[in-house]
Amino acid sequence: MNKLAKLLSYKSEGKKLTCLTAYDASFARLLDACGVDILLVGDSLGMVVQGHQSTVPVTLEDMIYHATLVRRGAPKAWIMVDLPFMTAASLSDALYSAKQLMQKSSVQMVKIEGDQSVVPIIATLTQQGVPVCAHLGLLPQQALRLGYKTAGKTGDAAEKLLADALALEAAGASMLVLECVVPDVAARISQALTIPTIGIGSGNKTDGQVLVLHDLLGLSAYPPSFAPSFLINGRTIEQAVIAFIDAVRSDQFPAA
Ligand code: KIV
Repeated sequence: MNKLAKLLSYKSEGKKLTCLTAYDASFARLLDACGVDILLVGDSLGMVVQGHQSTVPVTLEDMIYHATLVRRGAPKAWIMVDLPFMTAASLSDALYSAKQLMQKSSVQMVKIEGDQSVVPIIATLTQQGVPVCAHLGLLPQQALRLGYKTAGKTGDAAEKLLADALALEAAGASMLVLECVVPDVAARISQALTIPTIGIGSGNKTDGQVLVLHDLLGLSAYPPSFAPSFLINGRTIEQAVIAFIDAVRSDQFPAA
């Protein structure tokens, strides 16, 4: 079984997926050694590494640079990378961006924010052999327009999220990140899909959990309320990461 098939099989086995962001070789090595299933080179690096107010300033070259560092630190890990702001705005942009990341940084998966409007992009990428993770709910690349808000609060909004999720799966997405989605809605989407959902701030009924590494380590200037530091009680960094993995797999994080 290849690595992707193995990760996807967790859902039917009832085993939760764990994902943490990584931006450099040292942390990539540590997270992989601790047993994190997926390393995400998130465009959150714009905020936690580069010090910007949003992810908008992050470029494809930034992502290639950080993805290359992460790959160097974790040669065998499953590495997913965000296509940053406006780098998947057209089919040709998306193909170019994914090609650059996969060929220059040797990563295996790209993540794209967006609702059903990104279906043609996901379909084209997957036809070309690119594993894709979709991303619904709070969309940080749209925050200047939509703000940082919980998604799926009304009945209509919840139905739209479900329809979007089904359309993204049908287009070929292999995984789906659900960011700040009302927990009941995230649970419904997770049940309706065959692909795994990976939640952040979306309750504990998703098929996996992702956190920004700097939140987990208590280093973020403005940590979200759903992302407590795991670097507590005298733990080492390794112990904090393992505590996160254990808490996700035993359904203790996030709390029900
Ligand atoms: O960029 C990022 O770190 C992300 C996570 C918040 C899911 O997209």
